[in-house]
Amino acid sequence: MEELSAIVLAAGEGKRMRSNQPKVLHQVCGKALVEWVCDAAFEAGIQKCITVVGHKAEEVMAYMGQKVQFALQKEQLGTGHAVMQAQPLIKDAQGYVIILCGDTPLIKGSTVKKALDYHISSGNAATVITTELEDATGYGRIIRDASGQVKKIVEHRDTNEQEKAVREINSGIYCFTVKHLLDALNQLNNHNSQGEYYLTDTIEILIAEQFKVGALKIDDSTELLGINNRIQLSQAEAIMQKNIVNKHMENGVTIMAPATTLIHSNVEIGGDTIIYPGCIIEGDTKIQENCMIGPNSRIINSIVEDNVEIQYSVVVDSYVGRDTHIGPFAYLRPGSKIGKEVKIGDFVEVKNAVIGDKSKVSHLTYIGDAEVGKNVNMGCGTVVVNYDGQKKHKTIIGDNAFVGCNTNLVSPVVVNENAYIAAGSTITDEVPKDSLAIARQRQIIKQDWVKKRRGLND
Ligand code: UD1
Ligand code: CA
Repeated sequence: MEELSAIVLAAGEGKRMRSNQPKVLHQVCGKALVEWVCDAAFEAGIQKCITVVGHKAEEVMAYMGQKVQFALQKEQLGTGHAVMQAQPLIKDAQGYVIILCGDTPLIKGSTVKKALDYHISSGNAATVITTELEDATGYGRIIRDASGQVKKIVEHRDTNEQEKAVREINSGIYCFTVKHLLDALNQLNNHNSQGEYYLTDTIEILIAEQFKVGALKIDDSTELLGINNRIQLSQAEAIMQKNIVNKHMENGVTIMAPATTLIHSNVEIGGDTIIYPGCIIEGDTKIQENCMIGPNSRIINSIVEDNVEIQYSVVVDSYVGRDTHIGPFAYLRPGSKIGKEVKIGDFVEVKNAVIGDKSKVSHLTYIGDAEVGKNVNMGCGTVVVNYDGQKKHKTIIGDNAFVGCNTNLVSPVVVNENAYIAAGSTITDEVPKDSLAIARQRQIIKQDWVKKRRGLND
């Protein structure tokens, strides 16, 4: 089989983004623009993906990691020049190459495949992927001759009045037969309004050499949206978001108000889960079946088992066991591992702590760096005092313990199983199992103290 390669152009600064971050690292639905494009290439069965990096190359390379190969474009002298930098990596390749822009994140794997299949079966030297737009401002125009054959591509800046009126645009995606691409690159020059080496000129060059050049027009122009500024970034986010939310609804998830719901691309959600309005579900979150999420909750990189309810809460890098209730207004910080049938109630914060099955932490409590056993009751206003100003320490609470309201557990401390702690205690020493700890002063009653005081004042 012929080798299929992709070259993804990602060296530009993206001036129109007005950002310190390279354009291709801006994200849509939790994934950088360039990663969407490379993933589409892999989905289409491409074996080798070469990413051309330049502006802030180290950042782009660090983000993409081992997934792709890199070619460095030290100076950004245009899209044609960018492809030249990848030449050494494709020089020996027999077969075909698809060139993609790192700023068109909505391109689908199926479309990449369709473009390559079309290119190969039509025997073209080059095939440009085009679409028609209502407003073609900013895009290169496809200029065809009287018989409808593609003649050349003219950049928006370089168009005359007649060309400006053309609505068929260059998507920035092209398929080439490798040897023809290499031939055309050798002949590129920078004689244009920008003084750049335009990849688009390869089309005219190959036509002049009598090679067959074609175009594949795609009906769904949204897939080809190029991101040059933050307005287009938000348009891409909205389109992608709609696709993601629709996919979950097709899979049996109820999403009450799709327009208010943000779900990242890697998120998995089980059937019959209901997402209430205003939820943001990010990263590698996995939510199982029959859950009720929201309203207004944010869940990041977490696992949520069956039948869980999470209301008005934030859950980050955590695990929530089945049949557990979280919130309203709870905050599960990284490293929280909440068991089955647990209740984490209002204004409770948990950090790097295990809460055993069937335990209840119902209100106004902080649990940090702790191991709480099964069936424990943490009273209202309990604080695990995990930080001594220099170091964090750990507290352990055994199964069936009962911690009275407004207790401080000064870490490191152990409360053994079945122990009781009287309300208002500040616990600094180990509490043996089955015993009661009271760590506060006895109440004193001063009979008629108020009356006497009044008498003095009278
Ligand atoms: C380009 C096309 C235009 C097409 C449009 C589609 C050219 C000359 N123009 O214009 O016909 O309609 O895409 O979106 O090709 N890049 C580099 N190195 C460079 C310059 C750019 O790697 O020296 C990369 C950018 O990072 C970007 C991509 O190439 O990912 C496209 O560059 P951009 O400047 O956005 O080109 P457009 O002006 O949009
Ligand atoms: Ca662009």
